[in-house]
Amino acid sequence: MLKLNYKNTDAMVIGYENGLEIEKEFMNYQGRIAEIISDLNRRKDVPGQWLQWMNLGYSEETVWYVKEYASMVKDKFENVLILGIGGSALGGIAVTEALLKPYWNLLSEEQRGGLPKIFFLDNIDPDAISGLLDVLDLKKTLVNVITKSGSTAETMSQFMIVKDRLEKELDDNYRNNIVVTTDKRTGILRQIAEQEGYKTFVVPDDVGGRFSVFSAVGLLPFGLVGINIDELLNGIKDMDLALKNTDINQNIAAQNALIHYLLDTRKGKNLSVMMPYSSRLKYVSDWYVQLWAESLGKDKNKNGETVNIGPTPLKALGATDQHSQIQLYNEGPNNKIINFIRVEKFNTNLEIPKIFEYTGIGYLGGKTVNQLLDAEADSTRVALSDYNRPTITITLPAINEYCIAQLLYMLEVQTAIAGELYNIDTFNQPGVEQAKNYTYALMGRAGYEESAQALQKKLTVV
Ligand code: PA5
Repeated sequence: MLKLNYKNTDAMVIGYENGLEIEKEFMNYQGRIAEIISDLNRRKDVPGQWLQWMNLGYSEETVWYVKEYASMVKDKFENVLILGIGGSALGGIAVTEALLKPYWNLLSEEQRGGLPKIFFLDNIDPDAISGLLDVLDLKKTLVNVITKSGSTAETMSQFMIVKDRLEKELDDNYRNNIVVTTDKRTGILRQIAEQEGYKTFVVPDDVGGRFSVFSAVGLLPFGLVGINIDELLNGIKDMDLALKNTDINQNIAAQNALIHYLLDTRKGKNLSVMMPYSSRLKYVSDWYVQLWAESLGKDKNKNGETVNIGPTPLKALGATDQHSQIQLYNEGPNNKIINFIRVEKFNTNLEIPKIFEYTGIGYLGGKTVNQLLDAEADSTRVALSDYNRPTITITLPAINEYCIAQLLYMLEVQTAIAGELYNIDTFNQPGVEQAKNYTYALMGRAGYEESAQALQKKLTVV
């Protein structure tokens, strides 16, 4: 199981001005936390509560369909191309980067065990899109279009470009190269998929984009590139069981949510830095940034009062960002919580050869890169605590399906609990919708004419 070490947020370690009296706070909040956990578990099956993601660890049916489709298309494609943005892409990127062999797309077919390469187009940079389409052989590419709403401008424009090219290259057979993941009933893409006869998967009701990684949104791409989705589900199920515990002393998601909430609201630590000490976990930070930002950054609380709250998430990578951000974190404003993610056992033990005797570097010879990475993480943690900066460490026994699923699911539950503590709606995103609607208006979508006129006026002054 995952471990959470929050010692360096305690007032005994970093002082009363910056730290918390953890034991006392856990006791004070025990009742409230138990109430939140029971309430989330009670509401998870109630339609409209957006908590269906808490059931995704038990979605055996989706797993069955994913496996069936993956075995059907096995050996037929050299590449998988994912079109999606935000919650429809970030989980996929985080998990494939973590679990596939590093530099997967550069490996030979044999080294990949006959499994396809995987590419994510999660932006609308014209150079990047054309650049990728120039190098991919579309005939040998399975395109998975992922959008819950079925109308997101970025994803749909990519889809239109790719579909047009596929059709030109493959005539009528192009349909076999498209698989769609979208809402069961609604949205333009659902309509197109049915008219055109594409294979489809469903983004379940009441699962928001940023909580969708363990629905078909993630499971399909994972299944296509050979990630063990049964083990992912095992990790979620075991973590789910552990996080049903209403005793805060036994529940790491509740502990981390409460610590973040109290450090923000009482001690002014309103920035949450996610800093894995592992390159393979680099994109877990991107996923976390979206999860934490879109879920907790809100204008109004549940009582309708204007609060404008939300801790700002940031991403960093150990050890790389020790040479970029740590100066600020040690000596700049003391307004951050640094979340380290550590890995107990890497797949590789990489020795540094003893080839130089110089005093300045000779000591490295004969040690391992693993030891060096550990030493760097330990020393950064201690240095931050010397400067009275709060840090939290999440430790993964290893990087595998089971542990990655546990990590992501724990962070999802932590976010849901934090949302309750902040008393906001964790699952809406009016701020994102606003910008989406402005884009529709500017691009001439029917029904947005008035917005377009108002926007044109605003654009002349800002
Ligand atoms: O988390 C969210 O809800 C958003 O980030 C969405 O995932 C993102 O806007 C893409 O939306 P859609 O899946 O509808 O294309």
